[in-house]
Amino acid sequence: MSVLSVQGLTLKFGGLVAVNDVSFDVGAGEIIGLIGPNGAGKTSLFNLLVGLYRPTQGHIQLDGRRVDGRRPHVLARQGMTKTFQNTALFPEMTLLENVTTAALLRHPLREARAVAADCLARVGMDAAADADVDDLTFPQKALGEVARALATGPRVLLLDEVMAALTPPEMDSVMGTLRDLRERDRLTLIVVEHHMRAIMRLSERLLVLNFGRLIADGSPGEVAANPDVIAAYLGGDHAQHT
Ligand SMILES: Nc1ncnc2c1ncn2[C@@H]1O[C@H](COP(=O)(O)OP(=O)(O)O)[C@@H](O)[C@H]1O
Ligand SMILES: [Mg+2]
Repeated sequence: MSVLSVQGLTLKFGGLVAVNDVSFDVGAGEIIGLIGPNGAGKTSLFNLLVGLYRPTQGHIQLDGRRVDGRRPHVLARQGMTKTFQNTALFPEMTLLENVTTAALLRHPLREARAVAADCLARVGMDAAADADVDDLTFPQKALGEVARALATGPRVLLLDEVMAALTPPEMDSVMGTLRDLRERDRLTLIVVEHHMRAIMRLSERLLVLNFGRLIADGSPGEVAANPDVIAAYLGGDHAQHT
């Protein structure tokens, strides 16, 4: 059975259709890349999935149960959460404190600290637990974001451009960690990332949005050869997607 199933999902902002009749199914342990030109609706789709927005139409099932319309903390408890595009960790706190706040979703404080320490270890960041967030490098911040999301205990984790500030070798290292999480914990990952070569390498399957519509769903090879996808990328500002 699919861990996540989306049917006819639509989100309108006034006259603008940000997500337009999108349907797909996700199996447990898949790593899926979600791509599309700027403004295609990727963040809006994530916001629908985690309950920040309510769909205008359509539904979302997690483990076969309808979850559309549920609030974000309820969805997080049911096992789906996301990292935020461009948000930083709380700068006044240490990394461990940041991750602990997320673990409080399921655990009392003392236990939450232990869970947070474990999540930092899972992404190889235990040595930086007591560092101030301001002192972390970009790849450390990215892994800190992932650890913070992990601390809510997800089975489905949505990553919104967490690797944006990274160099290609730094991306490789973070992607290695993401693959490990999938292997070890059978985590299901949906990853938005602008860097095309990186997302093609990380993902087994790509979903492509353009003007809110799902225009392709297939292996990286299939998607790269899809004329609609090529047109969507060549039609827009191509430089930022390379
Ligand atoms: N809160 C909002 N209110 C109105 N329009 C929005 C809002 N959020 C996003 N949009 C619009 O919805 C479309 C999709 O945006 P977004 O989901 O952020 O795309 P992406 O993440 O793929 O760049 C864009 O046209 C954007 O301007
Ligand atoms: Mg976005």
